[in-house]
Amino acid sequence: MRIGLPLHAALAAVALSALLGPGASAQQVLKIGLIEPMTGPFASTGKQVDAAVKLYLAEHGDVVAGRKIEVLLRDDTGVAPETTKRFAQELVTNDHAEILAGFGLTPLAFAAAPVASEAKTPMIVMSAGTLIIPQRSPYILRTSFTLPQQTAPMALWAAKHDIKKVYTLVTDYGPGLDAETTFKTVFTANGGAVDSARVPLNNPDYAPFIQRAKDAKPDAVFIFVPSGEGSAVMKQFAERGLAAAGIKLIGTGDVTDDDILDSMGDPALGTITSHFYSAAHPSPENKAFVAAFEKANGGMRPNFMAVGGYDGMALIYEALKKTGGSTEGDTFVAAAKGLSWTSPRGPMTIDPATRDVIQDVYLRKVERVNGHLYNVEFDRVAAVHPDGK
Ligand code: DHB
Repeated sequence: MRIGLPLHAALAAVALSALLGPGASAQQVLKIGLIEPMTGPFASTGKQVDAAVKLYLAEHGDVVAGRKIEVLLRDDTGVAPETTKRFAQELVTNDHAEILAGFGLTPLAFAAAPVASEAKTPMIVMSAGTLIIPQRSPYILRTSFTLPQQTAPMALWAAKHDIKKVYTLVTDYGPGLDAETTFKTVFTANGGAVDSARVPLNNPDYAPFIQRAKDAKPDAVFIFVPSGEGSAVMKQFAERGLAAAGIKLIGTGDVTDDDILDSMGDPALGTITSHFYSAAHPSPENKAFVAAFEKANGGMRPNFMAVGGYDGMALIYEALKKTGGSTEGDTFVAAAKGLSWTSPRGPMTIDPATRDVIQDVYLRKVERVNGHLYNVEFDRVAAVHPDGK
């Protein structure tokens, strides 16, 4: 009998193998509770992750280490941490989910963390990006990214490319504050000067903030906004004539998100960002991933959230192979630490010290390729740690 199964499931498996007779092995179901915003302002994140999880299952089969994988998807709407927490509790207690996964925004990951700790359930953060998330439970592992990791290379690049004064504009919550702090620290340490403002997370109106940024006459505006918000920012940047005033737009890749980049049109051209994933990443693994993802989803281009979901499944599969199918919290986390593989994004490793992701971060410029806008990579910082170092 396998370790880590709820008793009734184990008994059912015994009964089933008795029915099937000797030699026949029943695959014991392993439920993954996937919680993402499928509706509301951040629905694109959930849609991308869900599609990527489905693609991973289609490509790798739904059986690993003798366990039959079943994904239970829950829509937490993205803006209600108490809903995320309730779903996490119900998934663990009523549905006997053995792994929790997803978490589209930082407050939602924070809300679920105590549930993972209490039940000793592995919790795979596939989307959210605030640095301290894995510190909230010893059962958290992350396959997305952190904002310090994505921001530090941008700040260093700016300082080295004749940008002296930057106005940072970030969404006013965990990942935005991480981005602002990291940008300021790295950019000022390299001789730059920074002014800052923060935009509310809920119902943001970017217009007055972009106007204030323009009035400050910086060389560049550095932006962090969550996935899905980039179009609104780009529209204001264009309407208020920042490019014409000689002000560059730089940021983390969240603002030139592949999901919506093509629809931003000319105003996005030339934007320089740093990030861990571009759909234009020129590796064989990524070309296969993008082609399969687009084929399975009516032409929808995968963004960085999709890759976080796809690699979350890769992490689950590789860890289960090492544990022989056990999801017991400490066993599973020990197996996941130090795992390394080639993702569509490039090489990645689960840092044994932080349970977070170590990965390459790329500098990219928005260019038109074959009639479509892409983040075209032109430089790379190898193996950046979660804290940006
Ligand atoms: C987070 C959400 C995003 O959509 C994003 O692009 C980066 C970070 C977050 O809430 O952690």
